[in-house]
Amino acid sequence: MSKKLLPCSNERMLELADHLPTPFHLYDEKAIRLNARAFKEAFAWVDGFKNYFAVKACPNPAILAMLREEGFGADCSSEPELVLAAQAGIVGEGIMFTSNDTPDEEFKAACRYGAVVNLDDITHIDVLEKVAGMPELISFRYNPGPDRTGNAIIGNPVEAKYGVTTAQLVECYRKAKALGAKRFALHTMVASNELEGAYIVETARMLFTQAVRIYRETGIRLEFVNMGGGIGIPYRLEQNAMDLSKVSQEIKALYESIIVAEGIAPLRIVFECGRVVTGPYGYVVSKVRHVTSKYKEYVGLDACMANLMRPALYGAYHHITVVGKQSLPADHVYDVTGSLCENNDKFAIDRRLPQLERGDVVVLHDAGAHGHAMGFNYNSKLRSAEYLLHEDGSVSMIRRAETMDDLFATVRFDGAPSVKVKA
Ligand SMILES: Cc1ncc(COP(=O)(O)O)c(C=O)c1O
Repeated sequence: MSKKLLPCSNERMLELADHLPTPFHLYDEKAIRLNARAFKEAFAWVDGFKNYFAVKACPNPAILAMLREEGFGADCSSEPELVLAAQAGIVGEGIMFTSNDTPDEEFKAACRYGAVVNLDDITHIDVLEKVAGMPELISFRYNPGPDRTGNAIIGNPVEAKYGVTTAQLVECYRKAKALGAKRFALHTMVASNELEGAYIVETARMLFTQAVRIYRETGIRLEFVNMGGGIGIPYRLEQNAMDLSKVSQEIKALYESIIVAEGIAPLRIVFECGRVVTGPYGYVVSKVRHVTSKYKEYVGLDACMANLMRPALYGAYHHITVVGKQSLPADHVYDVTGSLCENNDKFAIDRRLPQLERGDVVVLHDAGAHGHAMGFNYNSKLRSAEYLLHEDGSVSMIRRAETMDDLFATVRFDGAPSVKVKA
């Protein structure tokens, strides 16, 4: 069972909702810091352990800077994410650049930033060499194909567009070495929102086995393996968080029996998790706008899927707390909706909640990763502000809300373009 508590008292939450325009995203600084420390502590036996926080999960420099202070790096998938990481003080090999279908310009940018380039495809070796030169340290993303079943959410590796195949893997290292690479790493990403520790342990076994194979066939000793992201969080009350200490100890046993036994230690182990780091510690704070009865009972919030896409996109469950009504019986059944002209703009369907009324403050839990980041402007909706809640109860705005000027910044109001494009 997981608990879904607010990051502050009811009184403080109501006060914030009263003073700040709703909806807004709120991140709990203390909880994120403690969680980051616990992650590191679980893998304390790994010399040089690092989690490269997946910037796409929460692309806010204030969050990234906080995680840098906790010893994290950044996993970037595009040039703007490299900029965000650098703005947060994460540079050089503190960045893993894991992209796919990569533009030449972004290979160049990743090399300029000194990031660890993680190639997604065997054909990208020549492209990288041509556009930016082969870096000293190079990593490859491995797709095990039929040798591994992906977890339920990420899907079957055989169907995935990512990574190099088992047959291509060794050749990738040979080729990169021939082009001047001197240090090597191996990466994979085969899970998403996985709550079973055993799946993560099997990923370690898979990477260790490939590390041995690469060593035996090429003589190359990898510097580190990147286990990817994908560790899940208990969105639902009846789910449990993964026991990272247990997972770590099981990985340690494999490390000893595979890596140490082969004589290729030390091999650093790193991750690039996003969700498990900030997910549970981000909240959408919203107010009830309308309560109405049609063929079903509806509660319309001032938030919509522009603020949190996951329920509409994946049918994902996000727990809801009605501030101040936690101890009332959940004796009403509502569809909790947003204001988009899309019938799937619903945060919850047939959810049992206490009786709601206009003005109630409603908090959507577990919105700290892949939450605000997925926001969009369909229906010309404006994305909300982000605030960081500090330990003393004060808040800092770490992103202002969008305005109509932001929305219209790219629009040409003067009709047909005056710049003629030559054929
Ligand atoms: C390559 C890569 N790494 C890391 C992540 C982060 O995943 P999560 O936030 O589930 O840990 C993602 C998520 O899409 C990803 O695509």
